[in-house]
Amino acid sequence: MQDTKVLEIAINKVKSNGRIRKSIGSLQTLIESIEETGILFPIIIDKKRNLICGARRLQAFIKMGRKKIPYRIMDLDSFIAEKDENIVRKNFTKIECLYIYNAVIEREKAKAKSRQGSRTDKHSVKFTESMEQSRDSAAKATGLSWRTLDKIQEIVDYGNESLIEKMDSGPVNDVHKTVLLKKKYKSEMSKIRKFKQVPLPKTVKLYNKDFITSGALVEDSSISLLFCDPPYNKDALPLYGFLAKFGKRVLKENGILIVYAGTFHIDEIFKSMTKYLHYEWCLALLTGQAGKISVMTKGIFQNWKPLLMFAKKKNVKKNWLIEDVIKSIKPDKTLHIWRQGSHESNYLISHICPVGETVCDPMFGMATTALSCLKKNCKFIGFEKDKRTFKKAENRIKHFIATGKDI
Ligand SMILES: C[S@@+](CC[C@H](N)C(=O)[O-])C[C@H]1O[C@@H](n2cnc3c(N)ncnc32)[C@H](O)[C@@H]1O
Repeated sequence: MQDTKVLEIAINKVKSNGRIRKSIGSLQTLIESIEETGILFPIIIDKKRNLICGARRLQAFIKMGRKKIPYRIMDLDSFIAEKDENIVRKNFTKIECLYIYNAVIEREKAKAKSRQGSRTDKHSVKFTESMEQSRDSAAKATGLSWRTLDKIQEIVDYGNESLIEKMDSGPVNDVHKTVLLKKKYKSEMSKIRKFKQVPLPKTVKLYNKDFITSGALVEDSSISLLFCDPPYNKDALPLYGFLAKFGKRVLKENGILIVYAGTFHIDEIFKSMTKYLHYEWCLALLTGQAGKISVMTKGIFQNWKPLLMFAKKKNVKKNWLIEDVIKSIKPDKTLHIWRQGSHESNYLISHICPVGETVCDPMFGMATTALSCLKKNCKFIGFEKDKRTFKKAENRIKHFIATGKDI
């Protein structure tokens, strides 16, 4: 039978040689906790007064100038006991730390309020300062910083079960970034949904259809500018051929097609498009990400994107003049990962498409082209085959019509 009575022993009688843990670390938090709550667990010694568990508690008591410390005697192998106490025990999870942090803050708030009394007018600055201090010391009690704890709170409030689990077993920052994006996505979605009842003007025609099979909805020779941003993956390459064929039919005699193109397969893109249209120029869209996009297999840092320009008829006289280098403004990808910036579509539409004439985007994604048309008083007709993207884009346009703001 082991003796489990809690008694006090003179500190100088405890022998603490031969412990595994040589570094005791900072004792400040432990001392504060002992001062406030007392010692929660007595140290454990064997019958010969050798310390088995509680080296940090013992050192804290010494530092506090105490002469005696509560102890229990247990006949254990000191090596196994120290190992088990420090390795087998489970640390608090991050959510448990958050719980402790919030609970300590609540208590400190209550204490500060009672100190402050009823004169809320007089001490508000001091009150805020003392709350900041208590936030720091509450965080200290958990071993995490208050910034990390605030992030954990946001993950708990806005994350789902799997994100919370991921955060509990790994670093907080990555999960927090994902949660911030989700939070922003939710808030932007709720902003644009508010206006779903707003009618679209007659100048904007949207089809939730595949342009390859439903392109006949656009009249022959009715479009001044085809402006389009197809997906860039290799599987999507045939779309460029379909786009050019569609352009040949729907463009006006002096009509122009401008298409974003991935540089990787530009040779194939040219081949498929020049079957139907005349190559005019290659505009450079500066992406402003100097050195950030590296194409390792080619040994290239890419700083620009090609915008290829084709015409229905060769050598048709232009009544506009445009720069062939356009600086893009980094688009916000919260609502759709493929969304483009509006700077280039605003610039090109305002110069190339006469006011009141029609621009078509047969793969409009989040409808950046449609918004530029509304801003520049041009008509718009477009296709988007993905239902969810179509709905989001439609609401984005309606939000713009109602508020004048581009999300
Ligand atoms: C790169 S995104 C366009 C992004 C757009 N420029 C923006 O700023 O939001 C390409 C879009 O084309 C759509 N798409 C692909 N093939 C299509 C097709 N055959 N007909 C209609 N839409 C298509 C995809 O669903 C995707 O949303």
